[in-house]
Amino acid sequence: MPRVYIKTYGCQMNERDSEQVAQDLTARGYTLTSDERQADVILINTCSVRDQAEQKALGKMGMMRNLKRDRPDLILGFLGCMAQSRGAELLERLPDVDLVVGTQKYHRVADYVEDLRAQFTSAAAAAPVVDTAEETGSQSTIRDHLNSGPAPATAYVSIMQGCDMFCTYCIVPYTRGRERSRTISDILSEVRGLVERGTREVTLLGQIVNLYGRHEFPVVNGKSPFVQLLYELEKVDGLERIRFTSPHPAGLKDDLIGAYTELSKLCEHMHLPLQSGNNRILRAMHRSYTRELYLKKVERLRAARPDIALTTDIIVGFPTETDAEFQDTVQLVREVAFDNCFVFRYSERKDTPAAGMQGQLSDEEKEHRNQVLLAEVNRIAHAKNQQLLGRTVQILVEGPSKTTEERYMGRTRQNKIVVFPGGERHRGKLLDVRIQHSSGFTLYGDPAIFD
Ligand code: SAH
Ligand code: SF4
Ligand code: F3S
Repeated sequence: MPRVYIKTYGCQMNERDSEQVAQDLTARGYTLTSDERQADVILINTCSVRDQAEQKALGKMGMMRNLKRDRPDLILGFLGCMAQSRGAELLERLPDVDLVVGTQKYHRVADYVEDLRAQFTSAAAAAPVVDTAEETGSQSTIRDHLNSGPAPATAYVSIMQGCDMFCTYCIVPYTRGRERSRTISDILSEVRGLVERGTREVTLLGQIVNLYGRHEFPVVNGKSPFVQLLYELEKVDGLERIRFTSPHPAGLKDDLIGAYTELSKLCEHMHLPLQSGNNRILRAMHRSYTRELYLKKVERLRAARPDIALTTDIIVGFPTETDAEFQDTVQLVREVAFDNCFVFRYSERKDTPAAGMQGQLSDEEKEHRNQVLLAEVNRIAHAKNQQLLGRTVQILVEGPSKTTEERYMGRTRQNKIVVFPGGERHRGKLLDVRIQHSSGFTLYGDPAIFD
């Protein structure tokens, strides 16, 4: 049986897309391996959002080529966002690569792999395949889940593809195409299928997930299509928790805030990308809100759900950002007191408006701001986690902890990771644990009631 190794870079959307490719290949008799030296097919699902992400994937493929020297019939493929944005150019750079498949063609990967394998058996080398075309309806192709055995406790569900926001720094609208959404009934049947097989929590995925369906479906009784979807999911028996990522502050309206007062399955966590705390920079980024508006939305969310955890994304060193403007961001981070922030140094992306702007900052300056902000973020997160010590919280157990195999891990409704002494019997269960201590962003707990 041919073996496939899949390495995934980038966001949850890429993880979900890789799952779909894995599903398609296993359905045809392939097995998955975590050891690339054992593999007959090596697929690298790529991200283009920052230069560093592209370099990692290119470096990884560079190493994979060494394996091909001894095994000419090994298939090497690039999938995803960098495959989409660079296309055939990747073959010029890495001529051993057999397959380059963009973001609207994941569902074709298994066919292409089979074709290549057939060609390899009849000839010494196969002609490489590049497919970065657009495809109508591709938003509905990411929907199958590995069907061997029980489903995972927590699952990603892709509800839309693409992004029409065109933030000036961002490559995603170019790699993922126009915004397009699946139907509510299609999403519901996927979720019901998962729940029947044991899933307890879903995370709805989209680049601007709260704007789901805005081009396709009407507002009903003041509720946007996204909020309608949340109310439908609340009714799914056996589903315990609903999450989503990432919403855009501009689309965070009363209907969604209201859902936090009415839907018990909606977890008290929101990842709400801020990007900058300075209004001039926000405008230059083409983010259509102000720091005042962002703060107001945070206040209203906290009024609806006082214990809601908030996390965010921030870019430091956007072109022309002054030190005083950066300090506005630091100050806003303090004011909101985020549970966690992902801080990114601005990275110039080819053909985006910001890449052509005057006033690019030096790497040293970006790194300096990165360090300053990270220190602040860590201090706040640590203080927040201290408040949880001694408290009993509910976790959904996902499986063994990544760091210590004897321990298990789960997430609280606030999306905090808790490591505890557990076993297979806990997997997929909702469990109350008492928090004993915290280190970094991880909490350590003991089951409140031993079974
Ligand atoms: N759709 C999501 C974000 C997707 S990209 C949203 O709008 O919130 C994830 C994060 O990468 C962004 O929130 C942003 O903080 C960061 N990012 C995007 N482009 C970047 C760039 N050119 N340089 C540095 N960080 C970037
Ligand atoms: Fe990129 Fe902005 Fe779209 Fe997010 S909303 S994916 S940052 S263009
Ligand atoms: Fe990266 Fe593409 Fe996601 S560029 S962040 S993998 S949508």
